Amino acid sequence: MAVALIVAAGRGERLGSGRPKALVTLAGRPLLEWSVAALRAVPEVTAIVVALPAGELDAAPEGTIAVAGGETRSESVKRALAAAPGGDPVIVHDAARPLAAPELFARGVAEIESGEADAVIAAAPVSDTIKEVVHEDDLTVSATLTRSRLWAVQTPQIFRRAALGRVLAEATAEDLAAATDDAWLIERAGGTVRLLRSDPGNLKITTPHDLRIAELVLAERLEVADGGRS
Ligand code: CTP
Ligand code: MG
Repeated sequence: MAVALIVAAGRGERLGSGRPKALVTLAGRPLLEWSVAALRAVPEVTAIVVALPAGELDAAPEGTIAVAGGETRSESVKRALAAAPGGDPVIVHDAARPLAAPELFARGVAEIESGEADAVIAAAPVSDTIKEVVHEDDLTVSATLTRSRLWAVQTPQIFRRAALGRVLAEATAEDLAAATDDAWLIERAGGTVRLLRSDPGNLKITTPHDLRIAELVLAERLEVADGGRS
């Protein structure tokens, strides 16, 4: 049976709504609650741990386990894992991705249980051409990457519990700060990471523009669920 960790302890500075992003209202409920609802619809998930800003532990949805997050995202993952009851694999998900569907979580769990990988991570093929620039203040292009090989990584990321626990325990504070995702810690340690095919619809809410798009998507979803009755 799986355990889920939702990291929701960020400040949401780029969204700029004056409070933690996970608690900002999206289509009538806090952003965080969309991920909790999706995970509750996955039968394999037996517990949900939520890492929140230290002063906001009361905001944890009923039935979840609240824990104070850390200074960096990976530190929040580490604290959530430490508070998690038994369960393997471990699903790590960003509250900032409220549109992830139960199907995606379930497919990730099935994939890790049937294969040999240490981690299975949601990703979508990139549609933009990606160029590399070495100096941000100069903006001279140094390379054009081969698009057909590039995948934009998302959450959920699903881990064998022992593998995630080990790399988080071994990482220094600098490693944790440098890790923009947890799978990188596994890669670095020589573990196997596989992609789980997802699509760009699993949006990450970073800016007010992203929030508006997610509102539209959810409004459409609710309308479909309602069968156009209202
Ligand atoms: N996160 C966390 N603990 C941190 C930093 C981030 O739990 N110390 C979580 C966020 O709550 C979010 C996810 O990690 O769900 C991805 O982070 P990001 O999108 O950067 O969110 P914020 O850090 O809140 O946003 P910003 O960087 O704009 O302040
Ligand atoms: Mg951040």
